[in-house]
Amino acid sequence: MFHSIRLFVLSVMNIVQSNYTIMGNSLSQSSLTKKYVVALAGLFLITFLFVHLAINLLLLLPATDTFNVAAHFMGTNIIIKVFEVVLFSGIFIHIIYSLIVQVQNWMARPVRYKLENWSHTSPFSKFMIHTSVIIFIFLVFHLIEFYIETKFLGQIADVVIDGESYPDMGLKVITAFKIPIVVIGYILSFIVLGFHLHHGFQSAFQSLGLNHTKYTPTIKLLSTAVSIILAVGFIIIPLAIYFGNY
Ligand code: HEM
Repeated sequence: MFHSIRLFVLSVMNIVQSNYTIMGNSLSQSSLTKKYVVALAGLFLITFLFVHLAINLLLLLPATDTFNVAAHFMGTNIIIKVFEVVLFSGIFIHIIYSLIVQVQNWMARPVRYKLENWSHTSPFSKFMIHTSVIIFIFLVFHLIEFYIETKFLGQIADVVIDGESYPDMGLKVITAFKIPIVVIGYILSFIVLGFHLHHGFQSAFQSLGLNHTKYTPTIKLLSTAVSIILAVGFIIIPLAIYFGNY
């Protein structure tokens, strides 16, 4: 299926390019800028994932009160609300720009092999477009269930903590993670996310020009650490809730 989509996109782009021959040069120049943007947005999203993971791990405390208060703070604080706009723009920009860069790579296929570099030594580099599609599908389901349903459709019960009423986000997550298919779907998505980050993290540094032999081993090591910490950290949550006494 990916092959047919790729062929379709390539033919459309070829028609566009033959109509506007001037695009040939400007395309490769601007693709460098786009790579910077994809890299910066990607690193920003990784920072978000660490914060998100830290808050989600509060779910594993004996009571969900701390998680509920933290989630409520994150959902209502004005600074965090501004950050949310930046976050969603970051996700949007990262997806759109990486798609454009991917299509440009396909179009410049003979050149691409000459530009082969150390970040492509990651075994997951060939599957970035595949893993990103899976992460995108995960995000759509995730945001519908925990973001749109609770924030815009009011499908969430309230809980009173220290005399104040909070949306019981903890209960919502725990209820979801008692369903086997949800747990399996989430765990598979986190494994794919780990693969995506393993290449994505080191590739971001490469795009930003940090491909010096002195730093490469450290960046590769960090890339492996970041992908394992995030994937395993997120996987622990549904597993602990499903098998634990929550
Ligand atoms: C066990 C894992 C996870 C749990 C339990 C979880 C839970 C939640 C909850 C409860 C919310 C709503 C927070 C609120 O605004 O009140 C949320 C929002 C969100 N989640 Fe997750 N999440 C998990 C993993 C992920 C992953 C791996 C990603 C990205 C790939 C992600 C991306 C987002 C985004 C973009 C939002 C909306 C922004 C926000 O509210 O902070 N989540 N998640």
